[in-house]
Amino acid sequence: MAFITWKESYETGFTAYDAQHQTLFRLANRLQDLLDHPGSGTSQDIAPVYMAFLEMTRDHVRTEDELMRWAGYAPADDHDAAHGRFVELLESAQATSDVRSLLQTALLKFKAHFESEEEQAFLALLRSRQYPPTAS
Ligand SMILES: [Fe+2]
Ligand SMILES: [Fe+2]
Repeated sequence: MAFITWKESYETGFTAYDAQHQTLFRLANRLQDLLDHPGSGTSQDIAPVYMAFLEMTRDHVRTEDELMRWAGYAPADDHDAAHGRFVELLESAQATSDVRSLLQTALLKFKAHFESEEEQAFLALLRSRQYPPTAS
């Protein structure tokens, strides 16, 4: 079973932004797979997936922050601070002797963040901007 599964209901209609989320899901699932199979997932296997996940995360939090400001999302500062802490956690994997447990913690935080009320409220706000109710 996949670690995290994309659902159509997560889409906002902002296609580039939705694509970033989907890429993060794919990379998170690949990383989790490597962590679940210590025999096949060597550090050399993990490194490129980890780097891709880190880079995509950096791009994504920039995009999400811009969209939050544009949409006037009230808790934008707190949400962006949480992103900053998450990027720092991910970056710290480069300087730890226990990469696997750090990445496992990061993946669980990623999932919890995506499923959090704050993230889902923002997705709902974007959806309402993309598909405003039409007057009848
Ligand atoms: Fe996000
Ligand atoms: Fe977020």
